[in-house]
Amino acid sequence: MKIIEVIDGAEFTDEVILEHLSRLVPDDSVELVRTTAVPQLLARLLRDAPLRYDFSPLQNGPDEWRVLVCVRERPEPRSVTAYLGWDHDRLDAMLVRALDLAKRERWDHARALIADFRTGLFRHIEVEESILFPAFDDATGMAGGGPTEAMKHEHVAIREFVEGLVIAAVERSHEELDQHHAGLLGVLVEHNMKEETLLYPTTDRVLDHEERHQLVERMMLR
Ligand SMILES: [Fe+2]
Ligand SMILES: [Fe+2]
Repeated sequence: MKIIEVIDGAEFTDEVILEHLSRLVPDDSVELVRTTAVPQLLARLLRDAPLRYDFSPLQNGPDEWRVLVCVRERPEPRSVTAYLGWDHDRLDAMLVRALDLAKRERWDHARALIADFRTGLFRHIEVEESILFPAFDDATGMAGGGPTEAMKHEHVAIREFVEGLVIAAVERSHEELDQHHAGLLGVLVEHNMKEETLLYPTTDRVLDHEERHQLVERMMLR
């Protein structure tokens, strides 16, 4: 995913930003930068154009709040599979870019992208554990020892490898970076596949249209 432009929201009112976003076309992506938190603006985006955008945070303070806003290819009904699958792809692409920069010794840029990757992936995990997994457990009656328990265990390992990547980028160590990257992929690839083929579609299936829509909006605004 290519980010086509950056809007520094400190310069504009919400109205100006909304108007600007409304002129984008499908698949366009914008990085929104503000010096204050953005929940009201994001809630308004969902209210004004409920099916038009996907978004996910890149940085949550303390001095700047940055959010990636992407115009969806088609304004299809919301689903867990589509939103969290989109977030997986976005994070995968970000990590590939970061590692490529590190390979070319562009460590400052690589470090910044790995920090965004950490923010995004940790938030993704938090959204799954606090919103999605309880909804899955409730709807399927599979709480306690079911698939969400296994996913939570894998999240612990995933977080550790990501912290390793962050340190490796600070220390500019190719060896450490490769090692933690290999460790991360060893867990994350299969983890994401299990979520995308089992957990997300099952949750989508057991909820009705309105429940599904509201669950995804709650996740987006987290
Ligand atoms: Fe997960
Ligand atoms: Fe996930």
